[in-house]
Amino acid sequence: MRSDLTPAAGAAAVDLRSDTVTRPTEAMYARMRTAPLGDDGLDADPTARDLEETAAATLGKAAGLFVPSCTMGNLLAILTQVQRSEQVLLEAQAHMINTERGAATLTGAFLLGIPGVDGAMDLDRLSDALHPSASPLRTAMIALETSHNAAGGTVLPVAHMAAVADLAHARGIPVHCDGARLFNAATHLGVAPADLAAHVDTVSLCLSKGLSAPVGAVLAGPRPVIAAARRLRKMIGGTQRQVGIVAAAGLEAITVMGARLGEDHDRARQLSDGLNALGPRLSASVPQTNIVQVDLGRTGRSSTRWVDDLDAAGIRTRPLGDRRLRLVTHRHIAGADVERAVAAFRTCLDAD
Ligand SMILES: Cc1ncc(COP(=O)(O)O)c(C=O)c1O
Repeated sequence: MRSDLTPAAGAAAVDLRSDTVTRPTEAMYARMRTAPLGDDGLDADPTARDLEETAAATLGKAAGLFVPSCTMGNLLAILTQVQRSEQVLLEAQAHMINTERGAATLTGAFLLGIPGVDGAMDLDRLSDALHPSASPLRTAMIALETSHNAAGGTVLPVAHMAAVADLAHARGIPVHCDGARLFNAATHLGVAPADLAAHVDTVSLCLSKGLSAPVGAVLAGPRPVIAAARRLRKMIGGTQRQVGIVAAAGLEAITVMGARLGEDHDRARQLSDGLNALGPRLSASVPQTNIVQVDLGRTGRSSTRWVDDLDAAGIRTRPLGDRRLRLVTHRHIAGADVERAVAAFRTCLDAD
């Protein structure tokens, strides 16, 4: 470890690995201590029900279901609406296809990736894939993702969501949205989350990313779909008992924490600007939300080497393939942390 990279004694690491590292707020702990509790596997936990109703109303849907993770929300969306050997169409880099492959194998559905730009599927390719002769499989669902994780937190234009919904609904196909970061997308567009969810039939929302709840997600949609999801959730072990303790934090997340996400987006922009000012060897994406991807191709060092060197300087990051890093801003990243991160990148560059 080089001494010029060593963080000051006692300085906490600047953790840019993910917005999932966010800790509960004091208000969350207060709600958790006083939440009315019940057995959600027996006759319902009142706080979980409150969260489900609040989330459904916030997303403009008839019903909601609290689930331990957004992965389970997406899985249940498929299990409830897609039969074995039917097809789900989604953007080729979507989290549901690239990172949740378990869903495909567990459901028996075939997930087909459609090429896209910035997370938005090419509508001609999507339309071609829907043509009856394009596949022997019946398409039973189209899934969107906004903001789009692998595309660098990009936000689907509302017109794109509407166009996909038109294509799907004309054929009686439901549209699901992996809205793990739907509040970030809504913040970027300056609209309510329900305005985006209005274009889809079911939507999953993660409470434990920028919204800062310790765990949990919600699947929202039509009443019969959510009732079926509730039955299936039991079968896959997702029904929990006094789950109101964490649902209480989820209530705070969904009703209060969305309002501050713009700060995370500003910090991401500050980070991107700072990195791009370091010269031509680094190239940072210009973020729409809270994710910045950094192209390291011209630095001559691999992403894992960068991760190690930055780690030694107290800056935690994650590799994205061999040539890129993924940096995510969140509630625990202040302007001074961004400055510290940019300074560490500069020191690493100067060391070559
Ligand atoms: C777009 C997207 N969908 C789904 C998930 C899965 O969320 P969870 O970790 O709650 O299962 C993630 C997690 O990073 C994500 O980024």
